Amino acid sequence: MDVAAPGAPEQAISHLSERGLVPDLLVNNAGRGDYSPFLDADPVRLHEMIDLNSRALLDWTHTFLRGMVSRGRGSVIQVASGIVFVPAPKMATYAASKAFVHALGEALPFELKGTGVRYLTLYPGATKSEFFLGAGMTPPPSAVPARQVAREGLRALARGKSRHVVGAMNRFGIRIMPLLPRAVVASIAAKMTQ
Ligand SMILES: NC(=O)c1ccc[n+]([C@@H]2O[C@H](COP(=O)([O-])OP(=O)(O)OC[C@H]3O[C@@H](n4cnc5c(N)ncnc54)[C@H](OP(=O)(O)O)[C@@H]3O)[C@@H](O)[C@H]2O)c1
Repeated sequence: MDVAAPGAPEQAISHLSERGLVPDLLVNNAGRGDYSPFLDADPVRLHEMIDLNSRALLDWTHTFLRGMVSRGRGSVIQVASGIVFVPAPKMATYAASKAFVHALGEALPFELKGTGVRYLTLYPGATKSEFFLGAGMTPPPSAVPARQVAREGLRALARGKSRHVVGAMNRFGIRIMPLLPRAVVASIAAKMTQ
């Protein structure tokens, strides 16, 4: 289904309940990117991207969490992106749409304490998928298999973590980045996404 269509999460819940199924895990993974200088970007495309990456994720989370909290169990994995930790020239709107997911993840695990519901925000770095094609980019050689993202995410969720950055190199990079001047980080990021 089109997860960004109006009423999509409610429709999914009713399909599940017709089959006697109860959702234990919601993974908000559907997302798309855009790679272009801000002023050259097509506003319609940007709106659609924000609608999918941020608004639809919010609606699915809101709808599914209510049932999970009332049952006292369930898990949510939000697929954000490591891009939220760096300035992202030519990907500013994509990064902003994922910063929304990051901000939800900073707060919701606290609100959910004691409810029995787990909430993980996952931060993949470059991953081998159709994403780069869709965003008009070439994947970097450092891109990891999607299977690794899924495996690390599920493992972090099982350990009760509320956030996880995929890949040891990415975790290292995010730790040292605050030590560098922001302009230097921005120019490195711009070179990496060329
Ligand atoms: N690849 C990376 O380097 C990378 C890095 C960081 C974060 N991420 C994030 O990881 C997530 C997965 O991306 P990916 O790399 O696997 O990209 P992908 O290969 O382009 O896959 C995107 C998936 O989202 C689905 N989708 C898009 N719009 C949808 C809609 N309106 N309704 C239902 N499904 C929809 C697509 O389905 P169809 O094929 O049917 O269109 C596809 O299965 C995204 O949130 C992305 O932002 C990716």
